[in-house]
Order: sequence, then structure tokens, then C-alpha cells
Amino acid sequence: MTYLTPQIKRITQGTWRDYLEMVGDGKVGAFLAYEIYELLIKRVGGALGLILRNLILPFLIDIRGKRVLVEDEVSFIGAKRISLGERVIISKYCTVEARDGGQIELLDNVFLNKYTTIVCKGGKIVLGKAVNISSHSRLGTSGVITIGESCLVSSHCYIGAPNHNLDDPARTIEEKVLCKGVTIGPRVWIGSHVTVLDGVSIGEDSIIGAHSFVNKDIPKNSIAFGVPAKVVRERTSKPL
Ligand SMILES: CC(C)(COP(=O)(O)OP(=O)(O)OC[C@H]1O[C@@H](n2cnc3c(N)ncnc32)[C@H](O)[C@@H]1OP(=O)(O)O)[C@@H](O)C(=O)NCCC(=O)NCCS
Repeated sequence: MTYLTPQIKRITQGTWRDYLEMVGDGKVGAFLAYEIYELLIKRVGGALGLILRNLILPFLIDIRGKRVLVEDEVSFIGAKRISLGERVIISKYCTVEARDGGQIELLDNVFLNKYTTIVCKGGKIVLGKAVNISSHSRLGTSGVITIGESCLVSSHCYIGAPNHNLDDPARTIEEKVLCKGVTIGPRVWIGSHVTVLDGVSIGEDSIIGAHSFVNKDIPKNSIAFGVPAKVVRERTSKPL
């Protein structure tokens, strides 16, 4: 028998109500805004695309601030549970998904660079003011991911990487795992190609070196790197 993850089951065997719930908030208004966005507006480039998206997105997403900029080819799921603060920028090919009642908050001046994916399945993801996520990164959880203000996550990072079923080889790896989430303090810099495992906290003002695997908490003001990441030294002075 083919094994279907709960997510695929919901897509292939779900009802019309499941679809409405998945794309918006279960109501017809958000559904219509979603369909118009997907069919007519999402792929329009240039200034016209920006203008059209500024007109339609307030019906789809909780836009809390002015001057939000969403480039073309950006995908939203569960858009009514996504909120964007002032001057948030979402670049081309990003995906923002608030599934299963999950919530995503991008506070003022958050910048998501190209091909970044933010997915929560029933949990919550909050990116603080001026958080910058570089291209091809993924933040995913069914718990809570909080990233403090002015953090820089470099390209190709995975924040919140969960473990799947390890113990029973007779069972297929299951999609659903219980996530605790990840907490990253303010002004943390995460180098490129870093994996931060689910359940980890990184203290404020710390730096995680490129290609690290962070599976334990890192205290504040540390420089840490390696597989697994270890603290190599403390930062001597606060950043500007
Ligand atoms: C972690 C980091 C900040 C450390 O910088 P640093 O304190 O100046 O470290 P140094 O360059 O003096 O290196 C000290 C030692 O650690 C090693 N090292 C440094 N960074 C490392 C890393 N990420 N992984 C493994 N080893 C690393 C160096 O090879 C050196 O080893 P050696 O003494 O045997 O020669 C830096 O190396 C880094 O990884 N920066 C991230 C860059 C990045 O991803 N930029 C993305 C664009 S925003």
C-alpha cells in the first residue's frame, strides 16, 4: 500500500472546505482574492505587477504597515494567518505558508531574499524587525520559531530542521513530527549553509560559522562553528 503523508492525504482526499481553509481562512472573500492573485497577478513583473499586488494583497494577507513590497512569483498559503509589517520586502520565488492554523508574522523591515521558504504547520513563526533572510533558506516548524530583531540568516540555511521517525524501520518516515521550535536572539549572524536543529536556542549577538550543524543551545555573545557546532570563543565587544 502506498504511504501518504497527512499533508498529501489532505490535498488528494480533502474536501472543498479543506481547500478554502488551506488557501485563506475558509471564507469566500479570501478564496476569491487567492484565486485572482494566483491566476492573474502573481506572475506579472515590473511596476504594473507591484501596483496590482498592492491592490489585491490587503484582501488576502493581514498587511499592518505601509510600503510592503512583494515581487512576482511569490506563493502564499493560509494567507489570512500571515501578517506583514511596514516596509517588508519579499523577493521573487519566495514561499510563505501558514498551514493547519499556523501563524506567520513578519515585523517591520523584514527582508526575504529569493527562493526562501517560511512554513509553519500549526505553530507560529515570528521574524523580528529588520530580520534579513538570504536566498534559498528554509524556516519550518509545527512549534514556534522566533528570530530576534536585526538577525542575518545567510543563504542556504535550514532553521528548525526536525527529526522524523527513527526507531521503527518497518514504518515509512512520517511527515508529522512534534516540533518544539527554535529561538534566535537579536543581532545573531548565521553564516551560509547552516542547519539549526529543532529545539535549539541561540543567544543574542552570537555568530554561527558557515556550514555548521547547530544541535545544542549556543549562549549569547559567542562565536560557534563546526559539525556539530561548538563555541570557539566569546565576542569581546558588543556590535555597533
Ligand atoms: C565563523 C567565522 C565568523 C569565524 O571568523 P574568524 O573568527 O575570523 O575565524 P578565523 O578565520 O580566524 O578562523 C579561525 C579558525 O577556525 C576555522 N574556521 C573558521 N570558520 C569556520 C567554519 N565556519 N567552519 C569550520 N572552521 C572554521 C579556520 O579555518 C581557522 O582554523 P585554523 O586556526 O586551523 O586555521 C567565519 O569563519 C565564518 O564562518 N563566517 C561566515 C561567512 C558567511 O557565511 N558569510 C555569508 C554572507 S553573509
